Amino acid sequence: EWDSSSIIEDQVEKIRQQVGDARVICGLSGGVDSAVAAALVHKAVGDQLTCVFVDHGLLRKGEVEQVKHDFVEATGIKLVTVDASEEFLTALEGVSEPERKRKIIGEKFIRTFEKATRQIVADAAEEGGEIKFLVQGTLYPDVVESGGGDGAANIKSHHNVGGLPDDLQFELVEPLRTLFKDEVRAVGTELGLPEEMVWRQPFPGPGLGIRIVGEITRERLAVLREADAIAREELSKAGLDRDIWQCPVVLLADVHSVGVQGDERTYGSPIVLRPVSSEDAMTADWSRVPYDVLAKISTRITNECREINRVVLDVTSKPPATIEWE
Ligand code: XMP
Repeated sequence: EWDSSSIIEDQVEKIRQQVGDARVICGLSGGVDSAVAAALVHKAVGDQLTCVFVDHGLLRKGEVEQVKHDFVEATGIKLVTVDASEEFLTALEGVSEPERKRKIIGEKFIRTFEKATRQIVADAAEEGGEIKFLVQGTLYPDVVESGGGDGAANIKSHHNVGGLPDDLQFELVEPLRTLFKDEVRAVGTELGLPEEMVWRQPFPGPGLGIRIVGEITRERLAVLREADAIAREELSKAGLDRDIWQCPVVLLADVHSVGVQGDERTYGSPIVLRPVSSEDAMTADWSRVPYDVLAKISTRITNECREINRVVLDVTSKPPATIEWE
């Protein structure tokens, strides 16, 4: 039996012992693991912690604000935000091959994080402090799977792996190492983190970048962001967001089909809904979302996103299909 307040007490004690009066750095992704890990470390050592949030421009609607405002407000954490969206989009211009997208985003991400970290290290040195530790939101299942990657990593390269140069190595602080996801969520709730963050479904590091099939452009991102927000809102209103493992919303940007919207013939792109149920993302089944919920999502997306004239449902399990389309 566990309860979240004793987990918090234990971890806070452990972190204090490990860190002493040294300084700590932590990267935030917008997801629950890094947020809870950071909040625990902050509870333990307060302003010795600095968080870094790289905004790669590929997050969903409202997520950047969630980190920059809601999370900071809830925790009082010192946060450095790097708005790198311009750079990411420029680097991704003309790229439509999924693994190249991942490689570019992963590489840019780690270099941006590195640059911000160097600055924080330099600032700390100026104040006579030293950054000795790096927080990681590693969970127990990641530890057990040894090597850290799941089977999918062999098929699609995941980007949340190492990559800092030798002169920028830190000792790791991993306060979630003994916890399962439900415990992490309970701890996050107990620590007062924003509910949307605590309950956020798995979301890939490369973000919306791998949910636009085709080239990533600012316009396409705006359309997908809106469609995704509608789907999330309706699934949540229907009380389904905690039953569904995740629901990628995908823009088939290079596909055009004929439609009629208002009195006009249109030639727009389809949006794919990919709600899945799963235990661990290794296998998945398509979720039997009630028809009336699907109908509401479809009506709203085609009404509110001019560029979209068709909404389709992915009814494939994994295998053979992966959860994401790219
Ligand atoms: P697939 O599409 O391989 O996805 O069935 C399995 C799980 O992994 C997530 N995913 C990623 N996560 N970087 C990540 O951090 C990635 O490049 C990536 N690709 C897929 C996906 O959302 C699902 O939860």
